[in-house]
Amino acid sequence: MTKIKEILLSTRNLLNDNAILDSDIESDLLVSYALKISRSELHMNINSDISASEQTKIQNLVNRRLHHEPLAYILGYREFFGNLFTVNESVLIPRPETECLVEAIIDYLRYKSIKSPIILDVGCGSGIIGASILQNVPNINLVSIDISPSAAKIANENLHKITKSDNFNVLICDLIEGVKLPVDLIAANLPYIPTKRIPKLQKEIVLHEPKIALDGGIEGIETICRLINQSTRILKPDGAIFLEIDPGQKYTLVKEITQVFPEHTIKVLPDLSGLDRIISITKL
Ligand SMILES: C[S@@+](CC[C@H](N)C(=O)[O-])C[C@H]1O[C@@H](n2cnc3c(N)ncnc32)[C@H](O)[C@@H]1O
Repeated sequence: MTKIKEILLSTRNLLNDNAILDSDIESDLLVSYALKISRSELHMNINSDISASEQTKIQNLVNRRLHHEPLAYILGYREFFGNLFTVNESVLIPRPETECLVEAIIDYLRYKSIKSPIILDVGCGSGIIGASILQNVPNINLVSIDISPSAAKIANENLHKITKSDNFNVLICDLIEGVKLPVDLIAANLPYIPTKRIPKLQKEIVLHEPKIALDGGIEGIETICRLINQSTRILKPDGAIFLEIDPGQKYTLVKEITQVFPEHTIKVLPDLSGLDRIISITKL
């Protein structure tokens, strides 16, 4: 019989030999997922035997990982802002830098304390931005939007599961074309990678994450610029926009935004690595 500790060691070595970073954590998560136990139960039962069918299950999961399938898609979830969000290949895997966007928006909403503000999360993917805001600022009315019906389905599931609130709607449309009411805040993490750069990204991203979540057109800013220009139609005069961007797009976007919103204050904020990742457009 094979023991848990033996399979853990061989999984770690295999992941390591295939240049998979965090092989210790990833092997723990793959093995505990296959055995349907938590990570701490895994380590408490390190000397237990595992059956042949469990071994096969682990091997299948490890093979998927060795073929560059991201761990989050194999496990079916990713943690973001303290919650576990369901993910599959219809949605981008939540990135830690997006937590800074969420924090900036929550700070802004608490500071402004608007009564029942209407908030849009445009390009919502798995729904992380809207769900995290709604969980922390419960008096908002949230509309989460995605052009991809399969992403909108996942967002809807996550919003129900995480917020346990009815204060949201999920729309399937191109940017804000389906929105009629004036809104208080637009949050957006839209695709911002230049088309040509996509094939050069990690295999995990190129082979598995949805192109529609990545491809921002020739310069990477096409979708974001379209949103900025369309926002004048529905943003209240003292409304705000918060965008996640690629740091290299900062100057072009700030120039564009200044032309469209000359009376707003435009700030560029850093992510956890100190990179210019967020643009806020506010009237304080
Ligand atoms: C970079 S992903 C971000 C997903 C999620 N907001 C997050 O932070 O993890 C961009 C999302 O925008 C959506 N999207 C792309 N073009 C869009 C458009 N024209 N209108 C609405 N959503 C769009 C994609 O389907 C994708 O879910």
